Amino acid sequence: MPRSLVAAQVYSGSMTTGAPVREARPIEGRGHIAGDGQGPLDYEHRHSDEGPKGRLLSGAMGEYGADPIGAMRRWRDDHGDFVPIRFGPFRAHVAFGPSEIEEVLVERAADFRKSFGTRMLIPLLGRGLLTAEGDEWLRHRRLASPAFHRARVEGYGRTMARYAEDGADAWLEGQAVDLHDDMTALTLRIVARTLFDADVTARIEEVARLGTEIQDFYYLRFASLRFLIPTWLPTPGNRRLGAATRRLDEVVYRIIRDRRPDEDRGDLLSMLLQARDEQGAGMSERQVRDEVMTLLLAGHETTALALTWAFLLLDRNPEARGRLEAELAAVLGREPASPEDVPALPYAQAIVSETLRLYPPAYVTGREAVRDTTIGGTHIPKGHIVLISMYTTHRDERFFPEPDAFRPERWLEGLEKRLPRAAFIPFGLGSRKCIGASFAKMEATLVLATIARRWRFELDGAEIATQPSITLRPAAAMPGRMRSVA
Ligand code: HEM
Repeated sequence: MPRSLVAAQVYSGSMTTGAPVREARPIEGRGHIAGDGQGPLDYEHRHSDEGPKGRLLSGAMGEYGADPIGAMRRWRDDHGDFVPIRFGPFRAHVAFGPSEIEEVLVERAADFRKSFGTRMLIPLLGRGLLTAEGDEWLRHRRLASPAFHRARVEGYGRTMARYAEDGADAWLEGQAVDLHDDMTALTLRIVARTLFDADVTARIEEVARLGTEIQDFYYLRFASLRFLIPTWLPTPGNRRLGAATRRLDEVVYRIIRDRRPDEDRGDLLSMLLQARDEQGAGMSERQVRDEVMTLLLAGHETTALALTWAFLLLDRNPEARGRLEAELAAVLGREPASPEDVPALPYAQAIVSETLRLYPPAYVTGREAVRDTTIGGTHIPKGHIVLISMYTTHRDERFFPEPDAFRPERWLEGLEKRLPRAAFIPFGLGSRKCIGASFAKMEATLVLATIARRWRFELDGAEIATQPSITLRPAAAMPGRMRSVA
């Protein structure tokens, strides 16, 4: 299985190569860099009309499949901010530059829909918030939004901290753990309780195992021309995906059927069950299933990964860990963390941002043009794909000096406000931006603070490889030991 090494020095190559990149084509009114704090500055745009050559039939698919993250980085370094590419029969561009990304996701968002990568998730997720389009999507988004308002999320914060504290209580000095498994179990319990008032503790191992099976399936699909195989064809791979989805369905339908439809517990599940359209019709059980499945999966896997990468990075960067522990000791003392503490924990928040920059769990997304349009002055015909590689854009030295280094400090002086809008987009941008962004930031900060106040994670072994599947996962287990903070 092709793997890209996590070790930061692997990516420490120079940004520019001898390839034909046209420097500095500023686009008026856009593209500002994190300058000297005196106000936004235009950054140097890099364009060439050429992309990677690729093979006659498969185009760039072979290079991408062998190492998706390395390939994206090479294409950006060699060809600039907006790179033409071919994957088998599909013509595409990859947008690396913030102004091109903003055009796709915000200014010309109406010219695009989600691309085949997201549509391939429909057999698993159905038509929930992540995969739906147009009016159907808007209805779902309006329906679910109140559950993610600030006051609600602060309320969830108590459950997040309590469950994290339970997890921290259960570890023993020197105990061997698989950090990714433990973070998955924790975030799954949190999302099920906060949004659906459900206890999934008994099913956690099964859900985590099925999640891994499903990610492995998509990893093979995304990294080769196998993505051309329709998901309805009864191939062995598709049958395995079907079986895993049916097992997850059992968990999701149990959550739904355990609730009387007329019972209002004030949570998202009650909102879904009680929603009525203009004609007074409610959602079908299948529609509720699609939304619960989407939120259950999207709502735990990504945050578990962010936390897993954060603890790995802290293990590799003892100085940053020391500074975090000092902040936690000063602000929390011996008390558990609470949502009210979060504003007083700037360094913990900076660690979350820096982790999401270096290891964005949603590392890539894509859009397909629904009509002819233009991006960065380039004609984009209907049906054309535009990919956005958050991973690569987050490691652009025009915005992040020493782009591969873990430097939480860079976020402390208001960097996010000075950046071009699309230079840092772990949660996406525009109307399809992650509905759970505040939820995830609150959860990641509170769990990090709660655990790091008491425990250090020590990785066994030297390196962990990434597996860029639907999300950016560790390719294997994340084994280590918990050591108590003195
Ligand atoms: C660190 C954690 C998370 C990351 C990095 C993340 C990332 C993203 C990104 C990048 C998108 C946009 C995809 C695109 O534009 O194609 C997205 C959408 C979405 N996310 Fe998250 N997410 C996280 C946590 C969550 C949580 C906690 C929930 C729910 C509880 C959630 C639910 C969703 C949903 C439903 C969408 C689709 C929104 C729509 O299209 O209206 N995510 N997420």
